[in-house]
Amino acid sequence: MIKYIGSKRTLVARIVELADAVRANAGTGSGAGGAWTACDLFCGTTRVSQGLKAAGFVVTANDLATYSEVFATTYIEADAKRVRKKALAEKLAALNALPGYDGYFTKTFCEESRFFQPFNGRRMDAIRDAIDDVADGRIERAILLTSLMEAADRVDSTTGLQMAYLKAWAPRSHNALELRMPALIAGRGRAVRSDANVLAAEMDEVDIAYLDPPYNQHSYHSNYHIWETLVRHDAPPAYGVARKREDCRTIKSPFNSKVKAWEAFSSLVRTVPAKHLIVSFSDEGFFSYDEIVSLLADVRGDVAAVPVSHKRYVGAQIGIYNPKGEKVGKVGHLTNSEFLFVAGAGAGRVLQGMKVA
Ligand SMILES: C[S@@+](CC[C@H](N)C(=O)[O-])C[C@H]1O[C@@H](n2cnc3c(N)ncnc32)[C@H](O)[C@@H]1O
Repeated sequence: MIKYIGSKRTLVARIVELADAVRANAGTGSGAGGAWTACDLFCGTTRVSQGLKAAGFVVTANDLATYSEVFATTYIEADAKRVRKKALAEKLAALNALPGYDGYFTKTFCEESRFFQPFNGRRMDAIRDAIDDVADGRIERAILLTSLMEAADRVDSTTGLQMAYLKAWAPRSHNALELRMPALIAGRGRAVRSDANVLAAEMDEVDIAYLDPPYNQHSYHSNYHIWETLVRHDAPPAYGVARKREDCRTIKSPFNSKVKAWEAFSSLVRTVPAKHLIVSFSDEGFFSYDEIVSLLADVRGDVAAVPVSHKRYVGAQIGIYNPKGEKVGKVGHLTNSEFLFVAGAGAGRVLQGMKVA
């Protein structure tokens, strides 16, 4: 899985444990045949959705980003039992063997900037051009694109954000790009690309909604503009040192605005048709602990909080640099205070018997 700021990679087990405890407390689910349903409204890399699907939930994975929809189609919508793996493996081998050539990707991200070494960029150009022709349908296309993004991520020269690249080539960038088969999961699910508030207003009721919105002003569309461009394959005009897509100037999420975020979040909590909510919270964001607790208590009644913490994003651990590689800022504290909230009938009971701090 790709490097992604705010990814809940280290918390997936805790979140799934909470969802499991909610399920154990509440009997049959609202899906077909009593199955438990979950919606991950800001799914990003889909790591949490993957954990929930592996635990038997029928998952809807949603995000605004086009690359995220591709991950969701691969890991959530595709059922590992139904995918033609032999045909896919042959396609991946054929794509891996394609000779590279200069195209938009090499020019923009390897010459005008230095996110990838040109010898890898040329292969990315050739592979991306070929994917839409060789893919047999939407799910196969998503799996091949996921494989390409994950391969590119393994040989990039960044600290995990695409706002800047390293001054000296990262050691991994010298490795040859290699497409691998994504680790597909058996089960049912659905990929959606929508604004979370729009989806919440029109979706069917689910048993659990997981909310992990952006918590500061940094836009994911800008932070991961290269994945967006690789998936859309639209060769947009690019600007600045990081050669960002032109639409990074205009595409904004309300969750990245200090003025709009609370209205968007509180409206989502009120609207989303879910029996239970699990909400990720960091004290480095726009909202305070008290604001979230009182909103959840007001709208959902019962609320419980589970403290969790992990080390901050690697860029913060090695220092803050500008695109020229000059140190421009000091690193603050290296652990932050994070919580998972569970809200809905019986939330307090859910925590009984769990090993939580
Ligand atoms: C903190 S990240 C989620 C990380 C995810 N839980 C994971 O483990 O990878 C927030 C996500 O919200 C998405 N996003 C931002 N605004 C959104 C909106 N209005 N509706 C839906 N998704 C949005 C971003 O694209 C980003 O992937």
